[in-house]
Amino acid sequence: MKFTIVYSTATGNTENIAERLQQLIPSSELKDLDYVGQTSDLTAAEALVCCIPTWNTGAPEKRSGTSWDQHLDNIRGLDFSNTVVAIVGLGDSAAFSKYFCDAMEELYTAFLNTGATIIGKVPAEDYIFDHSKSNIDGLFCGLPIDEDNESEKTERRLSQWVAQITSQV
Ligand SMILES: Cc1cc2nc3c(=O)[nH]c(=O)nc-3n(C[C@H](O)[C@H](O)[C@H](O)COP(=O)(O)O)c2cc1C
Repeated sequence: MKFTIVYSTATGNTENIAERLQQLIPSSELKDLDYVGQTSDLTAAEALVCCIPTWNTGAPEKRSGTSWDQHLDNIRGLDFSNTVVAIVGLGDSAAFSKYFCDAMEELYTAFLNTGATIIGKVPAEDYIFDHSKSNIDGLFCGLPIDEDNESEKTERRLSQWVAQITSQV
């Protein structure tokens, strides 16, 4: 299965992680969401890895603060029933411990309701945080990455997760 990695970023961390994922996932494609013309272009992918930071702390909606927020409504109106979707969230588990990677859940729920097959959930016990909307019954709905406090754990997290998602398709 061919993976298309799509990211949006404000200060570059998510772009960097998306580039590292491209190195780890054989024959994957990398796309900056800012250069994806129509949201419907995403339906052409066999498998999407959606990389999303959280900036809008505590917001009920449009939690990312990046161009993902402009695509959410369009995603909700599309059919992703033939698409596998995995999500990576960038966040800060210390300074924003009550809102850690909240934006992942918004994207997760949007894709779930379109019929997408969601893969790549991870146990929350690998992280120290107070609360996250993306923690659903002890499982994060995607892979949280914290470059602000735990960058030394990123290499292991990415390689374990890539092994997980490539075995789930
Ligand atoms: C003003 C501000 C608000 C933030 N809000 C959150 C938040 O609510 N939850 C979270 O997990 N991280 C939050 N972060 C941390 C960023 O998500 C984190 O630094 C991320 O790596 C940024 O990714 P980017 O460089 O791709 O934009 C915030 C950072 C700043 C400076």
